[in-house]
Amino acid sequence: MVLLGVNVDHVATVRQARRTFEPDPVWAASLAIIGGADGITVHLREDRRHIQDRDLRLLRETVNCELNLEMAMTEEMINIALSVKPDMVTIVPEKRQELTTEGGLNVCEMKEYLKRTIKRIKEAGIPVSLFINPSRPDIECAREVGADMVEIHTGFYSDTKGVTQLRELERIKDAVAFSNSIGLKTNAGHGLNYYNVKPIASIKGIRGLYIGHSIISRAVLVGMERAVREMKNLIKEASLNV
Ligand code: PXP
Repeated sequence: MVLLGVNVDHVATVRQARRTFEPDPVWAASLAIIGGADGITVHLREDRRHIQDRDLRLLRETVNCELNLEMAMTEEMINIALSVKPDMVTIVPEKRQELTTEGGLNVCEMKEYLKRTIKRIKEAGIPVSLFINPSRPDIECAREVGADMVEIHTGFYSDTKGVTQLRELERIKDAVAFSNSIGLKTNAGHGLNYYNVKPIASIKGIRGLYIGHSIISRAVLVGMERAVREMKNLIKEASLNV
């Protein structure tokens, strides 16, 4: 069964809009787990626009399933990861002006730095995933730098329709098959929602899907547990058909 990692960043976005104590992403994470989430993801950004250091610390104490820390490859974030010890780290590119993570890492262009960083994180016993575009050269480079996993960027798939989307789906399928064939665990995420998730969840060889915005948006209206359960059911239906 394909795993579902729920990203609770946007619960913190609402809280930070008023710099108050509610809604609490730590409570949201517990409800997501009750709703069937297999893991919780947070992206601690350099500018702390949503998730705060306190959230990450409390999540580490309360999340007993997979806690995935998304982070940029900065010295500050590496030190936080080494001290908090999430169950996995996903390295993402991060730009201050972006609304959300825009593209995958240029793995092949930063091989040496990635190799050193991944080694440090893995030596602390934390598996490392790289967020990358569905491209064979990037996947090959991810393996060369020592990543355990990759997360294939589904943003372009999610933003397109019709033939363009179908073509992107084929690229993602090819990327997943190639990644598996060279021994990398393979996840996917970004922009997935209740309407576009099934074709991705039914790709053979996908380990997990990481979904945030759409689940939190639905949770605002129907509650966290139900929003997660509904997504989980779609993923289950799609992956049982493979
Ligand atoms: N995966 C990665 C690496 C991300 O940066 C994000 C956004 O924080 C997601 C998945 C989730 O994307 P979305 O919020 O569009 O579901």
